[in-house]
Amino acid sequence: MVERIKAVEDEAISRLNEIKNLQELEAWRIRYLGKKGLLTELVKNLKNIPTEDRPHFGKNLNITKNKLENIIKEKRVTLESADKEKKIKSSAVDITMPGKGIKRGKLHPITQVMNEVVDIFLRLGFSIADGPDIETDYYNFEALNIPKHHASRDMWSTLYIEKDTLLRTHTSPVQIRVMEKKKPPLAIIAPGKVYRRDADVTHSTVFHQVEGFMVDKNITFADLKGTLTALLHAIFGKAKRVRFRPSYFPFTEPSAEVDVECVNCGGKGKLSNGESCRVCKETGWLEILGCGMIDPNVFKNLKYDPDKYSGYAFGMGIERIAMLKFGISDIRLFFENDLRFLKQF
Ligand code: PHE
Repeated sequence: MVERIKAVEDEAISRLNEIKNLQELEAWRIRYLGKKGLLTELVKNLKNIPTEDRPHFGKNLNITKNKLENIIKEKRVTLESADKEKKIKSSAVDITMPGKGIKRGKLHPITQVMNEVVDIFLRLGFSIADGPDIETDYYNFEALNIPKHHASRDMWSTLYIEKDTLLRTHTSPVQIRVMEKKKPPLAIIAPGKVYRRDADVTHSTVFHQVEGFMVDKNITFADLKGTLTALLHAIFGKAKRVRFRPSYFPFTEPSAEVDVECVNCGGKGKLSNGESCRVCKETGWLEILGCGMIDPNVFKNLKYDPDKYSGYAFGMGIERIAMLKFGISDIRLFFENDLRFLKQF
């Protein structure tokens, strides 16, 4: 029995020298000190030995067991610190390595154009207002001098939620919401999403508008012309001609449509190779926005005195401006979020 114990001990110690990592050490522990380990088996075997011999063997076994346990403890400490050192070395920063550039995100082209337009008006002293995307018939139509069943409602292909609840078809209801709460002088812009039952290469069900209006004593059409000409020159360049064409909106009188000289053919209607310009359909002009002097009927609903105050209003589609500015012919590109497209702006 004593030889057997000694043999196990010798084997254990000689094998220990070959151990290189914690995994191997654990296997070693199991082999000798585990529940079914060689030494444990010897302990179990004690009961087959004559009672008078047991204390002697028991003592021997204990000495060996303690020895092995101490050895394993020491070995574990050595291995663990070696392990730690290795980890520290491998994770150390190599300052001679080239850096990994951080890829920067960009604003969506629609957001960029929207910000550009808003910034121009902030510089002119306008303030920003907003209203809900889900509107009532009253704010979207009625208060804007568009009665129920009036033919002019056909100007907007409206998406209704309920009989008197709809997705706003334009940002003009914000005019009403602001004027209900505030008295002139007012100089406001209202950027936001609008919705129409419309979808093709130049129309999207959801798109963006920037509304603007100014109300005070003695506001005239000349103020409107000056402001919008400044806006279009800032967006498309000072050299571009701008023209105001008579038009109709129920909430403005008189009303106008504003055109800018075609960005594609320079207003000639034809390209330098003689081909006809498809961007302006040979007219030389691009329609950019609608505007006019706020109709006295709108003021009456708001208890503004039309003899005391006058004002102008305008509304423009941001997708249209972005398409002309960047030379994009399909509006859907803005909403597909293909990174190859978006990265170009
Ligand atoms: N709300 C009009 C539209 O969406 C544009 C507009 C705004 C016209 C303000 C005149 C005054 O078509």
